[in-house]
Formats: sequence, C-alpha cells, structure tokens
Amino acid sequence: MGNLYAVVLAAGKGTRMKSKKHKVLHSVCGKPIIDHVLDRLHELGCDRTICVIGYQGDTLREHLEKKHAVTLVEQKEQLGTAHAIMQAKDELASLEGTTLVMNGDHPLFTLETLQRLVRSHQEKRAAATVLTADLDDPAQYGRVIRNGNHSVQRIVEYKDASEEERQITEINTGTFCFDNQKLFSVIHEVNNNNAQKEYYLPDVLSLLLKRSELVHAVKVHDAGEAMGVNDRQQLAEADAYMRQMILQKHMEEGVTIVDTSNTYIEPEVFIGADTVIHPGTFLRGTTMIGEDCQIGPQADLTDMVIDDEVSIKYTVASGSRIEKETTVGPYVYMRPQTHLRKRVKIGCFIDLKKAELGDGTKVSHLAYVGDARVGKKVNISCGVVTVNYDGKNKFKTIIGDNAFIGCNVNLVAPVHVKKGAYVAAGSTITNDVPEKALAIARERQTNKPGYVEKLWAKRSQQK
Ligand code: UD1
Ligand code: CA
Repeated sequence: MGNLYAVVLAAGKGTRMKSKKHKVLHSVCGKPIIDHVLDRLHELGCDRTICVIGYQGDTLREHLEKKHAVTLVEQKEQLGTAHAIMQAKDELASLEGTTLVMNGDHPLFTLETLQRLVRSHQEKRAAATVLTADLDDPAQYGRVIRNGNHSVQRIVEYKDASEEERQITEINTGTFCFDNQKLFSVIHEVNNNNAQKEYYLPDVLSLLLKRSELVHAVKVHDAGEAMGVNDRQQLAEADAYMRQMILQKHMEEGVTIVDTSNTYIEPEVFIGADTVIHPGTFLRGTTMIGEDCQIGPQADLTDMVIDDEVSIKYTVASGSRIEKETTVGPYVYMRPQTHLRKRVKIGCFIDLKKAELGDGTKVSHLAYVGDARVGKKVNISCGVVTVNYDGKNKFKTIIGDNAFIGCNVNLVAPVHVKKGAYVAAGSTITNDVPEKALAIARERQTNKPGYVEKLWAKRSQQK
C-alpha cells in the first residue's frame, strides 16, 4: 500500500437526532460512534487521519484529543460534505497517495471492508472508488446511478432524485477512496446548485469522469454494515446490528450465549471458550473472562479480569480481578480494586470495595468488606461490617489466614485480626486481636427469671 490518508467528516449538526449531544458522540455498543470509525482507521494503518469538526467543535475536540491521534481541522460553516473536505486542503493537497473519506456517523464498517475498498482502488489505479450497498430500504441515502455498461456515472442525493431514481436500491455509503492529488484538483469545481444548496462530495465523481478519470464502485458484502446514524431509530438499529455481530464472533470462538436477544457485550470484551453467558448479562469495557465460566443471569461487569471456572450471578462488578474457581452471587456489588483469589465464595447481598480476599475465603451472607486485606480460608459470617470510614478518612482492616469473624461483627478500622483468631458474634472490635485469641466485645447477657409476669402485674396495678 502506498501512502494512505483518511478524512473523517464530523462537522455537521445531526439535526435529526434532536439531541444536546453531538451525534457522533452517541454510543453504539457502549462506544461513541466516532470512536468506532477512528479505531478502524487506526487498525487500517493510515499514515495520517484528519477529522473535520465544526458544530459543537469544542466538545468534539476535547473527546478526540484525549483518545485518538488525529489532526483536527475546522469547518466554520457547514456548507456540505465537499466543502468539509476542502477544509483539509492545507493538510493534504500537496501529498501523494490515497485518501479514504468516511462519514463520522457510520460506525459499522469492518476492517475487512475498508481493506477491500482500499485494495481495489489501488489495484485498479482509480481516481475515485465509492463504497456502495444494496439496501432493501434505501431510505434517504444518495443513489448510485450507473450507465448502460454498468459503470458508475454519478450519485444523486435523495432530495434531488426523481421518482425513478429513488427506486434504485444501490446507495452511496459516504465512504470513498480518492487519488489524493486528483481529489484536490477538482474539488473546488463542485457547486451548490441542488435542493439543499450544499456542496456535495459525491459530485466529485462526475467531475472526475468528465476528465476521463477512472471511477469505480465496491459493494459491501453485508448491507447491514452500510448503515449511517442520523436519528434515534437508526441509532437503535446500528446498536442491534453491531451487538449481533459481536455475539456471533464470540459464538464462533466457542462461547455459549443462551439468549442472543438479551445479552449485551461491548466490542473490546474477551471471553474464553466453553464459557456460558446467561441472559440479562452486560459485559463492558475491557472485561476479560477465562474459559469454563458461568456468567449471569444478570451480571453487569465492567473492566473485569476473570480467570477460568468462575461463576457470577446477579452481580454488578467493575475494575476488579477474580481468580480461578471463585463463585460470586446472587446479589453482589463489587466496586473497583477488589481482588478475589482462588476458590473464594462470595454469597448473597455482599458489598465489596478495595478488598483482597485470599484463597478459599468465604463471605456468605449480608456483609460489607471494604478497604480490607483478608488472608486465606477466612470465614466472614453473616452481617459483618468493616467500619472503614470516620466521616473524613478511610482506614484499613487486615484479617489473617484462618481467622473466623462471627455474625454481626463490626471491625472498626484501622484494625488487625491476626492469624487463626476468632471474633465472637455481635462484637464491635476496636483493638487488634492477637493470633489464635478469641475476642469478645459485647455486654454479657443477664437473665431475670419470672420477670415478665412481675412486669405485667405491676402494669395492671397502675391502671
Ligand atoms: C451523505 C451523502 C449521501 C450518502 C450518505 C451516507 C452527501 C451530500 N451525501 O448524506 O450520498 O448516502 O451520506 O450516510 O455527501 N458533514 C460535515 N460538514 C458538512 C456537512 C456534513 O462535516 O458541511 C459531515 C456530517 O457531520 C456527517 C457527514 O458529513 O458525519 C455526512 O453528512 P450528513 O448530513 O449526515 O449527510 P447525509 O445526508 O447522511
Ligand atoms: Ca448521514
């Protein structure tokens, strides 16, 4: 491949979204639309990527500069897609190579499709190659007009098309490859004599043909990829399409998805073979899951690292690590920096935060363990609370191997229950407990024999 440049158009207002937020910052499968486009271009290995911004340029700039290596150029007035390309003239016009143009609102193209487009364009030494699609419902997309010998003649926008032209089902996806020099040699000739009084980029094709340049078309294999997002309906459709593509990829890799209509997996998630994903599960961010796991029903996991043979039910968890053969749930909330080592058992209604739990440790019922380092084979009984916060600062609880923390114990941090120690039920522990000691910190029980009858006798006299 010779030099490859990319221009992404994202200056338009996206009126049809009816949103305060910039259209390309809306998410598809948990990731902003523009990030899908720019990630593909990054994978494609573009030497230079330029993004044209305008409407809400500041918010978009802030987002793009944080995440992508792109050059931003501003289109002050949105006078059309050709006018948008002209804003990249200073950056590109002097360079030799291929320029790939994409709309910022098309999140679904695969790397393979873009590679096929670029390859075809370069092999045929075309001046321009347009990526097209055959759609059952071509909606308001621009239509591809071909002549008698079937070569591309021009593209007509929906608003300018005749009834007959609107019957054409082959549409312009807004993705093009151009010979960079040829693009910039004709683009200033585009005019705005059309229904929208805009400078249309697709008009470049007719201008090149007039100069006897080669113009080709490449069709996407899967028309689903061709979809642009202009309104909320298309946003939902794009999300559904990408979701199915992601699920399909995991199933091809040996993952069982019990209900594909009720499972939501973001693009960067990894799942090992023979893991079963049960319904109502959301796997987000950079979550990585090993083999032979049971995930869900109802697991909402973000940026998790999970080893093999782990089971997680009815759980919200983020930013944490879970080692082999550990079971979690039902009804667990796991906040970041939790680390569950091997064969840990986390039962029902447990809140964990910044807690490290050693091999074989159990927290079976109704407990809060936060800012804690817990050793191996510890039993944390029902209702235990690490009292980690004094209203201003957080303090740490340390529990040694083989310790036993009885029911309804408060561990007021900073505190250290050492190896093999026992803490009696109902204790509020404020001092360290030595190794193998039993700590009891509660009032002794007093029984008053026959007291209830005396009490009632007294009351009836008072009446
Ligand atoms: C465009 C194409 C149409 C194609 C469709 C595919 C034109 C004239 N029409 O139509 O043939 O079928 O995409 O989705 O190109 N933009 C700018 N500056 C502008 C105008 C637009 O940067 O002045 C950006 C928008 O932010 C958007 C992209 O260009 O990301 C396409 O613009 P949009 O208005 O959505 O074009 P469509 O009407 O969808
Ligand atoms: Ca569009």
